[in-house]
Amino acid sequence: MKALTWQGRDKVGIENVPDPKIINRSDAIIKVTSTAICGSDLHLYGGRVPSLLKGDILGHEFMGEVMEVGRDVKNLKLGDKVVVPFNIACGKCYFCEKKMFSACDNSNPNPAIPMLGTGQATSALFGYTHMCGGYAGGQAEYVRVPYADVGPLIVPNDIDDEKVLFLSDIFPTGFMAAENCNIQPGDSVAVWGAGPVGQFAIRSAFMLGAGRVFAIDRFPERLALAEEAGAETINYEDEDVYERLQYETGGQGPDSCIDAVGMEAHGHGIDALMDDAKAMLRVQPDRAHALRQAIRCVRKAGTVSVPGVYIGMIDKFNFGMAFNKGVNFAMGQTHTHNYLKPLLERIQNGEIDPSVVISHRLTLDEAPAGYKMFQEKSHDCTKIVMHLN
Ligand SMILES: NC(=O)c1ccc[n+]([C@@H]2O[C@H](COP(=O)([O-])OP(=O)(O)OC[C@H]3O[C@@H](n4cnc5c(N)ncnc54)[C@H](O)[C@@H]3O)[C@@H](O)[C@H]2O)c1
Ligand SMILES: [Zn+2]
Ligand SMILES: [Zn+2]
Repeated sequence: MKALTWQGRDKVGIENVPDPKIINRSDAIIKVTSTAICGSDLHLYGGRVPSLLKGDILGHEFMGEVMEVGRDVKNLKLGDKVVVPFNIACGKCYFCEKKMFSACDNSNPNPAIPMLGTGQATSALFGYTHMCGGYAGGQAEYVRVPYADVGPLIVPNDIDDEKVLFLSDIFPTGFMAAENCNIQPGDSVAVWGAGPVGQFAIRSAFMLGAGRVFAIDRFPERLALAEEAGAETINYEDEDVYERLQYETGGQGPDSCIDAVGMEAHGHGIDALMDDAKAMLRVQPDRAHALRQAIRCVRKAGTVSVPGVYIGMIDKFNFGMAFNKGVNFAMGQTHTHNYLKPLLERIQNGEIDPSVVISHRLTLDEAPAGYKMFQEKSHDCTKIVMHLN
């Protein structure tokens, strides 16, 4: 089959690789019909996450048709149309039973490396390095889905792929980021990053009762998309983010701040310059300018919710500022499985059309050019989907 593989820093290619096979009785094989490139794929593309090897198949946002199921699979049958969550969870361990699916204890067969970094290994992810399990990703014609009774959501055949594909990751991720803010009716929420995750955080914050949402970025097309959802926009190239948020909130600061940027923040100022230098020298991967700013801007006893991905030790981290203000933190890989059904209902009710974030539709063969475009944010690129049929 054809698959998109990592070939080295800033280089991916389409290769012919062996078709996936059922390995365990709880596996299914999915024929991929649509798949997308995520901001998290950019961290891999740039070679910033350890234990990714040349030839690894990328992709964790995908959906398709069930082609084959292992003997123990009860919930899926051939021909079902399914969306697959990006984290792999067993459904039976302590964490899965408590609905903390991204903390699954069983799905990652390589826990030793993440344990060094985090103390305990978290769940495996599709197409996301060997320390996250070494599972092949879904930017491919076919993919093996482990624990097939636990993750995949069956969706109606007549619903367009583009409406439901993002249930695999970015819609639940934006939603959980907003949910973690414990939004009270009328609250103000500031969202750093108007990329795909930020777009869903903005829309989810409104769905959960926010009165005002501020979207912070520097790309006009992304800010325009945020504005369409009702957000008030702040282009940080044109104005000081802290000053504007103070002004808009009567000197109090937003009730909640969401960092939907993560470890590759762009920025000006001493902290951003130091982060850039360290990232270039490969001594510290995380560039945390947006997170530091969110901590400074949030109101006292407010919440900083972090869906943006970080992987290492952050230097010059203003933890004392957070402590003295009594900031609540919430973060982590999304417990995607919890959100599939409720968010499908919101799509079916017409509360949201997730396809509005798509700017480019490509074939799998065009995906390498798509990575470059998405990384450079060129051609007004907000979100790329590859259709395979
Ligand atoms: N927690 C999870 O489970 C999960 C799931 C999906 C994605 N993510 C992470 O969410 C983050 C965003 O993903 P995405 O797909 O939207 O990526 P993206 O790269 O398209 O968007 C990031 C946006 O942040 C903006 N930005 C950069 N520096 C900024 C700054 N200082 N202030 C404000 N905005 C700034 C960029 O201009 C860009 O528009 C990534 O770190 C990704 O890895 C996490
Ligand atoms: Zn993702
Ligand atoms: Zn589990």
